[in-house]
Amino acid sequence: MLQNERIAQAKRLMGYIEAGTTSHAQDVYRNPVDDYISPKQADAERQSLFQDRPLVLAASAQLPGPNTFLAHDLFDLPILLTRDGEGVVRAFLNVCRHRGARVAEGCGEARGFVCPYHAWVYGIDGKLARRPDDAAFDGVDKATHGLTKLPAIERYGLIFVRPTPGPAFDVDAALGGLAPELAAFDLAGFTHFKSYDSEWRLNWKLGIDTFLESYHFSVLHNQTIHPIFHPNLGAFDAYGENLRLMFARRTLPELKTTPEAEWNLPRHVAAVYILFPNTVLVWQGEHVELWHVFPKGTDAVQFRVTLLIPRPADTPESEAHWDRNLALLLKTVEEEDFPVGEGIQQSFRSGAQSHIVFGRNEPALQHFHRMIRAALALPPVDGEISV
Ligand code: FES
Ligand SMILES: [Fe+2]
Repeated sequence: MLQNERIAQAKRLMGYIEAGTTSHAQDVYRNPVDDYISPKQADAERQSLFQDRPLVLAASAQLPGPNTFLAHDLFDLPILLTRDGEGVVRAFLNVCRHRGARVAEGCGEARGFVCPYHAWVYGIDGKLARRPDDAAFDGVDKATHGLTKLPAIERYGLIFVRPTPGPAFDVDAALGGLAPELAAFDLAGFTHFKSYDSEWRLNWKLGIDTFLESYHFSVLHNQTIHPIFHPNLGAFDAYGENLRLMFARRTLPELKTTPEAEWNLPRHVAAVYILFPNTVLVWQGEHVELWHVFPKGTDAVQFRVTLLIPRPADTPESEAHWDRNLALLLKTVEEEDFPVGEGIQQSFRSGAQSHIVFGRNEPALQHFHRMIRAALALPPVDGEISV
């Protein structure tokens, strides 16, 4: 984030602390329970949100050098990300053009891929290089039987892919004004510490909702992050379909005794970004958590959290430091947030209510769900956001 913007947001948060308030929407918002359980909506989301638009599939640091690859399987589409010898990132369907076997598994270094079924050989650029008994495939042109390419762009330390073949896309337009802020993080220089995958029985949007308010910090996270952050306090801004929600650490007011030019804001604030629709980027000051959130039908979600750190963890102390960070994060979500989310998902099927309520103190939730409905061409439910 740009320093002048950080300072402005820190002052805004200090104002909220002093006034005992937070960013407010103009009205409460009633979100239909059906949005979380309707198979029809899940089908529409799959097409409109997870096929037709660019998604963040990985951090640049997950393809850490020339001739590296990553097989991406977070949703029901086999995708292969590669970085060639010149550093160029590409995305393909991880599907052999002979009879459809997967050509790569996991991640690592490679100059190409040998299909495990009949050994067709593809370059790191996806081109079909050779195949056993080539003469048996007369008329099947190698030039048109490379791996099926997907539009991919590496920018701001992130890899954006549209999971449907077609023309290139405009990342900056999709980011709705967030590009300079993402660029300022300089994520391209970060290191991938560890990633952690988990699956939970809750709708993917409920997974995102977890990150979009601090109203629950003093209750659900009383022993974990409540001692670190001011509860029910956040500075919300919309950036097109995307959003930013900034939180204040309890140390923030200490800055008032320090000259503004010396403010070390990463120690005192944190920010949650939704890169619409399904990426949650949590800037924790020093490090970044990248959450990929993918639906598994209506009632389950696949999460991957990737911890990105500013320099390699090359000592036992730094490794232990980042392991502690990861452990706190996982304890918070896996012992506190997601179990509650699973209960909520069950409640949605109980018939107890047709809507849930997002308070005026939960404007980020309101924005996210308004943008989902707009992207699916569903009618808006009610109210307008005014922050
Ligand atoms: S399916 Fe890949 S070589 Fe046959
Ligand atoms: Fe939480």
